[in-house]
Amino acid sequence: MTIPTAALHDAAEHFGTPLYVYDSAELDAALARVRFAFGTARVYYAMKANPNLSLLRRLNAAGVGFECVSSGELARAEAVGASGRQILVNGPAKSGAEYATGGRLGATFVVDREEEVGLLPPQSRALVRVNPALAVSTHDHLATGAVDSKFGVTLEQAPRVLDALRTAGHTPLGLHVHIGSAIRDADDFTAAFGRLSELREQTGPLAVLDAGGGWGLDADLGGIAREAWAAASAFGAELWVEPGRYLVARAGTLLTRVVGTKRTGRNFCLVDAGMTELLRPMLYGAVHPVTPLWDGLEMESWDIAGPACESGDLLARSVSLPQPTPGGLLAVGEAGAYGAAMSSGYLTRSRPAEVLWDGAAWTLIRRRETPQDVWAAEEGVHLSVHQSV
Ligand code: LLP
Repeated sequence: MTIPTAALHDAAEHFGTPLYVYDSAELDAALARVRFAFGTARVYYAMKANPNLSLLRRLNAAGVGFECVSSGELARAEAVGASGRQILVNGPAKSGAEYATGGRLGATFVVDREEEVGLLPPQSRALVRVNPALAVSTHDHLATGAVDSKFGVTLEQAPRVLDALRTAGHTPLGLHVHIGSAIRDADDFTAAFGRLSELREQTGPLAVLDAGGGWGLDADLGGIAREAWAAASAFGAELWVEPGRYLVARAGTLLTRVVGTKRTGRNFCLVDAGMTELLRPMLYGAVHPVTPLWDGLEMESWDIAGPACESGDLLARSVSLPQPTPGGLLAVGEAGAYGAAMSSGYLTRSRPAEVLWDGAAWTLIRRRETPQDVWAAEEGVHLSVHQSV
């Protein structure tokens, strides 16, 4: 992150905390790294990582398409002007509305099971998602290509689904694989793409291989790209990719203020953000870098705890900090992906504001919610339906 510390203090002062701050230079740099590694591959941003409209507009302007998994995400894609080949509709249990909207927008569908062939809008372009049945190096909840995972069709089924698409008048573009998220080991991708290449004999040449996303922030992008292109070439296909985390994680920081401290069995540094603003530590045991924005000489180990009435509401364990005092600012890094996106109104907490740094100034790209925003859908709804028998 290249945002000066003084600018972070300014943002916290002006917009309040907790606050998500994004660095536009780091966003651009991440996309440049992806383009450098993957060359001419078509990039579909998995907007689940961070669906903020301002970020989507920026990526759309840079020629990036969107991978969408809900009607809401499709509405966002449409709102920023994306359509047709710029949109992928994915998901294991798509709704009727998602097929209809995807069809109206002329999107490409990722078929996750054979029955979907009969559910697609007429003459759809489609990819078939394949589950390579492999163990991968990530948290269990983030693995999607394991043998017991709900995603995709088996290697045996895939050629049949491609045929079924053709028979039904659709355009089967090719195969799709996404083995999970936050994957550290490039060998996992090598194994998965290798499994797919085994299908070449049966499928013949294909127009597209979609290699998904899932790249850990420290993964060897060049190595993954080489393997993905090798698999695509085996099919004579062009390569598509769907990064989420990689494009936005490092650009985002969660700013939170110290509320106070307590020394019991452990040292707790109590802050104004927690599981409602960054769920990943609680949900996946994810470790995010925490940087204090104050000085001090004596370092001690602190657990960073949020305001929720849940013991699991910790942002980090055993962080070395100078003595915290109320009002001190902490920067929780790598929070641009699945931070704001997974924030919640639990405890009727208002979702924080989001601001974007352009190198000289801050722009508010989402205002802080009010409690009234959180309960808005509960008001004016006193309609009742009586029992039908
Ligand atoms: N493509 C498909 C089909 C996906 O399911 C996903 C993520 C992506 C692409 C993007 O994956 P990425 O490059 O961001 O790893 N909430 C979790 C992450 C769940 C990811 C779900 N699918 C977290 O906070 O780590």
